[in-house]
Amino acid sequence: MDRKEFIRLVGAGSFLACSGCLDTTNSYPAPSGVDFTLDLTQGNNTILQSPGGSLIKNGVIIVRELNGDFIVFSNACTHQGATIRYQVSQNNFVCPRHYSYFDITGFPVNGPATFPLRKYKTELNGDNLRVFSY
Ligand code: FES
Repeated sequence: MDRKEFIRLVGAGSFLACSGCLDTTNSYPAPSGVDFTLDLTQGNNTILQSPGGSLIKNGVIIVRELNGDFIVFSNACTHQGATIRYQVSQNNFVCPRHYSYFDITGFPVNGPATFPLRKYKTELNGDNLRVFSY
């Protein structure tokens, strides 16, 4: 393989590897019709009793904020649908696929994602947390 052919192949590979970064549709679907209740005293749900705890369930990510409030978003990155994670140390969300970051309101602060995360409502009754669509 000569230098010219090498550059041609590497250049094509770079383009293909980054083609997802150039995706401008950027609106991966979020779950609709969400309505479920978690008993916060049971199993993995207990992590939500502690501020900074987070749990992924039924296509959403539930976070117990440091002030004790609950917030819920679709766990699918709006870029290409990878599962986002909550970072308590930064109080934000990160997508591990192409490293989009979303602030605590679900707004994208670093692309390639440009659409916000879909938000869901919560209602706490004793130890039961209801998560549901707007
Ligand atoms: S899937 Fe590309 S940044 Fe999340």
